[in-house]
This record gives sequence, C-alpha cells and structure tokens, in this order.
Amino acid sequence: MIDLTPDDLKSLVAQARLAPSVHNIQPSRWRFKYGTIELLGDPRRSIPMADPEWRDWRLSHGAALEGLSIALASRGLQIAKLDLEPPRQLRATEPMQSIARVTLASQNQLPPAEPTATRASWRGSFKPLHTETQSDLDRLAAARNDILLVRDADAIADTADLADRAGLFFLRDAEHRRELVAWMRPASSHADYHRDGLNAEAMCLAAVEAWGAGLVLGPLFQTLDRIGLAAPLVCERAKTVTASAIVLFHRPKGEDAFVSGRAFYRAWLDMERQGLKGCPMSALADWPVARAALAERHCVPADRQIVSVFRIGRPNGTPKFAHARLPVDELLA
Ligand SMILES: Cc1cc2nc3c(=O)[nH]c(=O)nc-3n(C[C@H](O)[C@H](O)[C@H](O)COP(=O)(O)O)c2cc1C
Repeated sequence: MIDLTPDDLKSLVAQARLAPSVHNIQPSRWRFKYGTIELLGDPRRSIPMADPEWRDWRLSHGAALEGLSIALASRGLQIAKLDLEPPRQLRATEPMQSIARVTLASQNQLPPAEPTATRASWRGSFKPLHTETQSDLDRLAAARNDILLVRDADAIADTADLADRAGLFFLRDAEHRRELVAWMRPASSHADYHRDGLNAEAMCLAAVEAWGAGLVLGPLFQTLDRIGLAAPLVCERAKTVTASAIVLFHRPKGEDAFVSGRAFYRAWLDMERQGLKGCPMSALADWPVARAALAERHCVPADRQIVSVFRIGRPNGTPKFAHARLPVDELLA
C-alpha cells in the first residue's frame, strides 16, 4: 500500500488544481484514506443554469483527476485502480458527493513532463498564421484522434458567427446571465479575485472593460438587447476570426463526461505543448443547433459527439500564468 504524508498530498493537490474547470468553479475536493485518494465534488460550486445536466461539472472533475494523475506520474506514482461513481442528476443544495476513488501504485518510468504550469485560457486575439504555426497545427492534428481542426479562414469566420449566435442564445436567459456574472471578478478588490471565477486578467479585459462587461451582462442587458446593442457588445467575432484554427473536440457518443474530462485536459495540454493557446467556446458545444451544424459541416463521425470547441493560435499578447485558484488547504476534505 502506498502511503502519502500530508505534505505529499498537499503537493499533489497543488498541481492537480491547475486543471481547468468550467467558469473556474473548482468543484473538486480530495481526501486521503487507507492508501486511496478520494475525489469529492462540491455541488454548491456548480452552474446549474448553464449546465443543467451537470456535464461540465463532471467533465471538470475528470480534468481534475487527470491533473492528479499527471502530478502522481511526476513523483513516480500512478493510478492502479479507479472506482468511479456513476453520474447522477444533482441539486446545488446537496452535500459533498463522492466522485471517484483512486488506488495508487508506483511506476518505474517517469513519463514526459506535462506543461500544466503554463497552460492557461487565452481569451485575447491571435497572431497572423505563419508557416511555423501551420506545422504546430499539423503536429497537434497528428497527436490526437479526438480532435478535428478547422483551418480554412471562411470556415473559421462562419464558426465565429455561429459562436456569437450561440452565446446570445444563452445570454438572453436572465438566470443564465445572473449565474455567469456571479462568477465574474471584474475588480481586483473582489474578495475572490485570485481564488476562483473569471477575473479581469483571465478575461483579457482592462478593469474598466471588465466592469462594463458586468453592467452589459447585468442590469443593462435587456434594454441594450431591445435596441439591438447587446449583440455587438457581447460578440467575440473579431477575436475568433484571428484564430489559426478551431478545434472540434469529439468523443464517443454516450461517454461519461468524467472520462471526456480526462481527455479534454490532455488535449488542451497537447495544444500547449505545440505553443498554441486558446480557450473553449462552450456555447458551440452546448447549443444543439450549433453542435449539429458543426458536426455536419465538418463531417464528425456519427458515433462521435462534439464535447467542446476551442479557438487556438499563437497569442497576440503575453499570457498571464497567475492561475486564480483556491488554496490547497481548502481543497482537502
Ligand atoms: C467544461 C469547460 C467548459 C469551459 N467553457 C469555457 C467557455 O465557454 N469560455 C471560456 O472562455 N472558457 C471556458 N472554459 C475555461 C475555464 O473558464 C478555465 O479553464 C478556468 O477559468 C480556469 O482557468 P485556466 O484555464 O486559465 O486555468 C471552460 C472550461 C471547462 C473545463
């Protein structure tokens, strides 16, 4: 039985917490018990309006577990056995849920290090496409069989339009907007600015722009929408069209979102390894109209489903690596 000291567990969790989570809600908690690590989920840290089936919540746990697996590997350990609780419909008022139990084993060969420290969402625009970036995209496409790269400029522009339509579809729901705004941290004076959610830096917005975004998505939205100004204010087309590629991340139909989440994190790390930054555009995968249109246009096989869509490229600016994360002590159950 592999034994871990409290300090070992803390350093594992410190690396695992760099995994992405939807809206940076960080729902995963960890407990070490009799040679196993238990992954727990906090239903209070959820977005039931944007994620009514709790798919992104579960996907975020899968990414967190993959983060743990990477952290274990860098210490000569591995997951010997994974016991997964089946997905079920939850309510935000429910107590902490057991998600998975991991039994550890040692491993002799250290796998190559993963760029977990430098991977971060990039929500700015991208540099023009160079030959070098073309090669990065070729390598990325060759590395994975669960991504499809949309590289044609017209198809990227069409996806940018579709993404804005999808975004607006969800933003027109007041409860959805309220939930999003609750996870936004426009000012550095916000108590949770460096802890969770989407802060101004992460959104690539100056403080005043982030404050404005809060107003546009908050009390002003309906009025602006009535006079046709909401769409131009929230649209991201100008940024999306600068992307060198759109990534369609597709997984087997019916796959547990936890399993998809593990692959999602690895796919993002593969992008990072090629020097490609970007961010998911979930609305495209969440809105059935957009998901179906993309699957049809780009010939996603019938037994696969689009789980996420990214825009990627070489960042036109300097990404910040100061991940807003909860302190490790708060992540230990
Ligand atoms: C399931 C899932 C969906 C996400 N959807 C979006 C999205 O639609 N737009 C976006 O900008 N970021 C999206 N993200 C990225 C998260 O907001 C991001 O991972 C989180 O804020 C942590 O920041 P980091 O990626 O820089 O570590 C998503 C992440 C996950 C795991």
